[in-house]
Amino acid sequence: MERAIDPAAAVAAQPQVGVSRAHESAHLHVSGEAVYIDDIAEAQGTLHAALGLSPIAHGTLQSIDLELLRRQPGVVAVLTAADVPAENNCGPLLHDDPILADGELRYVGQPVFAVIATDRELARRAAAMAKQVIVTAPLPAVLTAREAHAIGQYVIPPMHLTRGEPASALAAAPHRLDGEWAVGGQEQFYLEGQISYALPQENQALLLHCSTQHPSEMQQLVAHAMGWQAHQVTVQCRRMGGGFGGKESQSALFACVAAIAATQLRRPVKLRVDRDDDFLVTGRRHGFDYRWSVGFDDEGRILAAEIDLISNCGHSADLSAPVMARALCHFDNAYWLPHVDMHGYCAKTNTQSNTAFRGFGGPQGALAIEMIVDGIARRLGLDALTVRQRNFYREGQDVTPYGQRVEDNQLGPLTDELIETSGYHARRAAITAFNASSPVLKKGLALTPVKFGISFNVVHLNQAGALVHVYVDGSVLVNHGGTEMGQGLNTKVAQVVAHELGVLAGAVRASATDTSKVANTSATAASTGSDLNGKAAQDAARKIKRRLMPLAARLLNCGEDELVFDGGEVRGGGRAVGFKELVGKAYLERIQLWSDGFYATPGLHWDRAKLQGKPFYYYAFGAAVAEVLVDTLTGETRVLRADVLHDVGRSLNPALDIGQVEGAFVQGQGWLTSEELVWHPQSGLLLTHAPSTYKIPTANDMPRDFRVALFDAPNAADSIHRSKAVGEPPLLLPFSVLLAIKDAVAACGPERCDPPLRAPATPEAVLDAVEAVTRKMLP
Ligand code: MTE
Ligand code: MOS
Repeated sequence: MERAIDPAAAVAAQPQVGVSRAHESAHLHVSGEAVYIDDIAEAQGTLHAALGLSPIAHGTLQSIDLELLRRQPGVVAVLTAADVPAENNCGPLLHDDPILADGELRYVGQPVFAVIATDRELARRAAAMAKQVIVTAPLPAVLTAREAHAIGQYVIPPMHLTRGEPASALAAAPHRLDGEWAVGGQEQFYLEGQISYALPQENQALLLHCSTQHPSEMQQLVAHAMGWQAHQVTVQCRRMGGGFGGKESQSALFACVAAIAATQLRRPVKLRVDRDDDFLVTGRRHGFDYRWSVGFDDEGRILAAEIDLISNCGHSADLSAPVMARALCHFDNAYWLPHVDMHGYCAKTNTQSNTAFRGFGGPQGALAIEMIVDGIARRLGLDALTVRQRNFYREGQDVTPYGQRVEDNQLGPLTDELIETSGYHARRAAITAFNASSPVLKKGLALTPVKFGISFNVVHLNQAGALVHVYVDGSVLVNHGGTEMGQGLNTKVAQVVAHELGVLAGAVRASATDTSKVANTSATAASTGSDLNGKAAQDAARKIKRRLMPLAARLLNCGEDELVFDGGEVRGGGRAVGFKELVGKAYLERIQLWSDGFYATPGLHWDRAKLQGKPFYYYAFGAAVAEVLVDTLTGETRVLRADVLHDVGRSLNPALDIGQVEGAFVQGQGWLTSEELVWHPQSGLLLTHAPSTYKIPTANDMPRDFRVALFDAPNAADSIHRSKAVGEPPLLLPFSVLLAIKDAVAACGPERCDPPLRAPATPEAVLDAVEAVTRKMLP
């Protein structure tokens, strides 16, 4: 019953946000009990699918020996494009992505047919006969973005973003730097590969378990392929074993094949892709080629910049247009560019169709300016950090090339704090001394900043829904449109709901993402998961709370404005009632104890044609200092120490946020140092399609001394509890690693040399750069 309490305690004493909580599934992850799609108990009669892949990069599909395939042991059916009941497309934006090849073969690895067999091994064995059963007529293939760009072959028309008078400002600048550079792509390497499990339901319907960041789009694309209405398809995803952007759009092909097979055969069908096939079939981060000219003054201040960004999109558009838009909107990174001219070219090649990957083009845009600033500093003989600080956005010079003001700019104070805590200047001097006396091992140091825009560049995607149920025993279930891929979204959303209702975090459980619960959701992407779904869940919880307040006030004999929901009870007027009791009474009084919630980010506008507007609700900032050791005889590198200061606003959960920063840092480090994609120059086969040849970083590659801290400043924008998105921005922090390696290599060459270091900076690339700068020392 209601009881008297100490009035001094009548404030929320047990906040549920802003505190570190273990990931809601951590105990399941470590014990192996967490259920991924392949762990779902298989329904009776489940069949298994495998894909037969195109053996050539470009050509026409003449015929497939289906009879031979059908005679293979265990094979129940073989599907081709002709078996797609309606639209043979699984492309997210343009309809240029066939599910199964239809006439034209576009890359080595393109799915041509699907074998459905009684078990997975037999399906794979039959599918592996692709080379033997597919008859092709090859055509010349375009395998690199440069080649495609040279002949004007694009997946979408070129984009152009300009401001001021770049040509005349460039001509008038005291110094000029022209450069060309390229950065490779990156495989998402989610630990759980692509997988879909389709179960036919009564009356022409389907339940699809799919490892996807975008259940609503999977629902739509499956419905289109089937010629069905959306309500016939339910997509569920409890969790992914990683997505990293690779399951935003590209889970669709597997979802569609499983769905079509299951419906045609009236049997459950599972399609789990082998790692090598996953590499060969799906796309990844776009590699970019750059060409630039910049003008600057004696202090290194950039006066004008012209740049071409050429992305390798692969055979179809997929998400390449928004990826390029984000690249163009992040070329400025932390810097005021008064006169700028950017062209974005989305090259169409006969390779896998590239897609989202953590940062979504942002890293590829910002990396270019960081290379440029480094080059300017070396040309002038200045410390790159000094040049960076001189170019930072500041009061009066704070409008981006796309017209958004950089509000709540933390670049200055954040960088100053990191310089201090990392001992940057003393270490710079120590490294110079070390290098002077160390002929083979060289050290390098670099500090790089990040400014990353938060929101989808497409305004309408910035919406979310949630559903909160309070049961009569006081326990709470929350469902929202976001997906859990390891980032801790469910934990954060549960914390938000617990905080709102004043219950302990353990009282709230998050359930699987399900298109039959929250409709028309956006992908969990652009780092907006907790911003959007947190707000939607808060809205739902607030509605329930508002319905409970009159009853609570009556029970406690106080005003509604005195009520505090906290720690599993409701206090007011010096008395308290347990949340469970309150809810029990509310039920008897027929008060609705569940609610939906909705959120749409305010104030966004974007002109897609002009590339102007306010695409971002706010910016997240960060900076990192990396110190590396380079063996100039072997090209091996080691990150000795990394200091990171990253802005997550007022953190919802510091432990999760630090985990995201650490993970993104090491993932970005892998992109820039060890993960190299190599396609055969004639056949177009991706040669690095397994961990034997494609090297992601391991625990061993982590910075030896890794100091990650969160910058303490609430978000000025009205985000969920003034937090900031954390998923992607820290992927840009390890630019510092690449530039520290470049710094170490520069120590081998003459003063003011600018090492031509490629990315990824593999040992081979490092050796080439060392050789290039030492050759300059020779007479
Ligand atoms: N963290 C883990 N553990 N696994 C992932 O797949 N994906 C990243 C990032 N962090 C990812 C991750 C990407 S690409 C994005 S966009 C965000 O998480 C998405 O989740 P959020 O919006 O909830 O941060
Ligand atoms: Mo993240 S690349 O937006 O899925």
